[in-house]
Amino acid sequence: MSAILDGLELPIVGAPMAGGPSTPELVAAVSGAGGIGFLGAGYRTVAAVGADVAATRALTERPFGVNVFTPGGGVRADAGELVAYARRLAAEAAAAGVALGEPRHDDDAFAGKVEALVADPVAVVSFTFGLPPREAVDALRRAGSEVWITVTAPDEARAAARLAPDALIVQGVEAGGHRGVFADDEDASDLTLLVALQLVGEATDLPLVAGGGLATGAAVGAALVAGARAAQVGTAYLRATEAGTSAAQKDATATDAPTRLTRAFSGRTARGIVNRLLADHTDAAPRGYPEVHHLTTPLRAHGRASGDADLVNLWAGQAHALARAEPAAEITRRLAAEAREALESAIRRLR
Ligand SMILES: Cc1cc2nc3c(=O)[nH]c(=O)nc-3n(C[C@H](O)[C@H](O)[C@H](O)COP(=O)(O)O)c2cc1C
Repeated sequence: MSAILDGLELPIVGAPMAGGPSTPELVAAVSGAGGIGFLGAGYRTVAAVGADVAATRALTERPFGVNVFTPGGGVRADAGELVAYARRLAAEAAAAGVALGEPRHDDDAFAGKVEALVADPVAVVSFTFGLPPREAVDALRRAGSEVWITVTAPDEARAAARLAPDALIVQGVEAGGHRGVFADDEDASDLTLLVALQLVGEATDLPLVAGGGLATGAAVGAALVAGARAAQVGTAYLRATEAGTSAAQKDATATDAPTRLTRAFSGRTARGIVNRLLADHTDAAPRGYPEVHHLTTPLRAHGRASGDADLVNLWAGQAHALARAEPAAEITRRLAAEAREALESAIRRLR
């Protein structure tokens, strides 16, 4: 049971989108409209996350959440494969006039982020990339936060349920950005959202939040009918006025270019719009998060700064062409209003 989900005016969760899009302004606008927005703590320092939380609080009194990457979900990179991949990217780096980054392993300051969120609690802390340690879950809940865990399949849901979280976020393969799979290997789930929702709904009684490809109110309505308490929407906010999305990514999101799963940018499977770097290197990209993420950081930064979209990780879900450039509050209210209309029209078809 989740008091936060029970109390939502509109069943819309603004997905955490680390790497720029989820600004305090975006989060506050979604929460202010009656949904709940999430900051992404991923790739940020502990101090920066604290500043984001303070900035969001200054903009809204409504509840909002923070998303944290769980360490340990990644399979350790093979050193030889990393060297070979760095050699392969060397020509890209030379052409861009940058040096590749150091492919180091780290845990994105997991313990420091949890500690800071325990000291200064927010309404919800959500996790992705695997199970958080039980002590972290217990400490956050004692501090007054709800804990939500991202899953992509029923076996992950059963494992997560043993930590007694307040809700599960069910992510379908349609979703933009990194897959939340616990282990990014050949056995990882490739379930679409509707299938995952049905199977996870059978596997657990926990409240479910559904994400992946939900870009219209009708799709939000479908997720609610399939058992979700709320829809977690990411890509549909990428072009929002308040989003910190780079210009290259905003422009690509507005096209109908295809998306594809890739490890080319980060070493962990993620869905992005197909560009040259993705097309040329996906088949050779090794598993190795966050080593490959650090390796490509200068290339991606150069792409964003120079407007060369072929070097940027253009994370987006399969329905990205439907994302609109509107204030986030309007997007939130429109999705909910259209969901109601779609559900009313669907119920008439059943009479
Ligand atoms: C640009 C981008 C960044 C994302 N970053 C995160 C993140 O930091 N943490 C997380 O749990 N999910 C992240 N996601 C995935 C979302 O939580 C969610 O699963 C997804 O956006 C839902 O599918 P949709 O993009 O089709 O709406 C990201 C998605 C996108 C598009």
